[in-house]
Amino acid sequence: MSRFENKVAIVTGGAAGIGAAAVRRLIDEGAQVMLVDLDEPALETLCTELGPASRYCVADVSSVEETKKYFQQTVDAWGQVDVLLANAGIEGVVAPLHEYPADMFHKVMQVNVEGVWNGLQQAMPLMAANGGGSIVITSSVAGLQGAPGMAAYVTSKHAVVGLMRTAALEGAAHKVRVNTVNPAPVETRMMRSLEQGMNPDDPTRVHDQMAAAIPFGRYASAAEIASMLLYLASDDSSYCTGGTYTVDGAMSTG
Ligand SMILES: NC(=O)c1ccc[n+]([C@@H]2O[C@H](COP(=O)([O-])OP(=O)(O)OC[C@H]3O[C@@H](n4cnc5c(N)ncnc54)[C@H](O)[C@@H]3O)[C@@H](O)[C@H]2O)c1
Repeated sequence: MSRFENKVAIVTGGAAGIGAAAVRRLIDEGAQVMLVDLDEPALETLCTELGPASRYCVADVSSVEETKKYFQQTVDAWGQVDVLLANAGIEGVVAPLHEYPADMFHKVMQVNVEGVWNGLQQAMPLMAANGGGSIVITSSVAGLQGAPGMAAYVTSKHAVVGLMRTAALEGAAHKVRVNTVNPAPVETRMMRSLEQGMNPDDPTRVHDQMAAAIPFGRYASAAEIASMLLYLASDDSSYCTGGTYTVDGAMSTG
């Protein structure tokens, strides 16, 4: 398959988890990909493995200046940006709302919301000038429903749905499509961290209970989320914009 031949993609949070799974698939399908992340050793290892169709930029998505930097480096390398996967995110901590640390609430909003906002601000005019493009934001089932102990994360993942809906309306006239993917728990570092936060004495038990509560009886794999990210990034989804796309084993239908 070569859905991304001659396409240039930026993937934030591209060094690990869902982002890295999407990067691998994009490269397999012909794209040139700029990986953006804070984790330089992981970026270097992945790009060495993937070869010249991949490059990386160490950047913090919550910084306006660093966002400009990773867009500039992409345009300098390949002349355009066709796809943005605004995927970098952090989980914060697990604590009841009244005990949730304010500085962590702000940090989660900076990375998960302002990070996406920064990317949209750079991508939208660039894609419009280039005749169109596709932006996919990694929200969550936590962007569609609440989750006790996760006030900041839930708020941030709802907020990006609002950003997406506005951007989709503004982008429509310029053929810039904007959607969110809303996964259930995925087998990545992030869930290990949350399971630990929910029960430090027995995180495996949390995993098993959470998996059992999903109608499919298990978490998703990163590759299963990447499949939806690539569908929305590709021309296969040419009439899809302004949508929330669950990949959740029926978790959010209950
Ligand atoms: N894992 C899940 O269960 C799950 C479920 C739904 C949604 N999501 C969302 O999917 C996205 C990817 O999560 P994941 O599970 O792959 O997590 P992960 O922790 O495995 O990977 C996230 C990557 O983002 C990078 N990152 C974090 N902060 C950054 C910043 N400020 N600037 C640049 N890079 C930064 C990290 O270094 C890491 O490589 C996140 O937005 C997350 O909220 C995850």
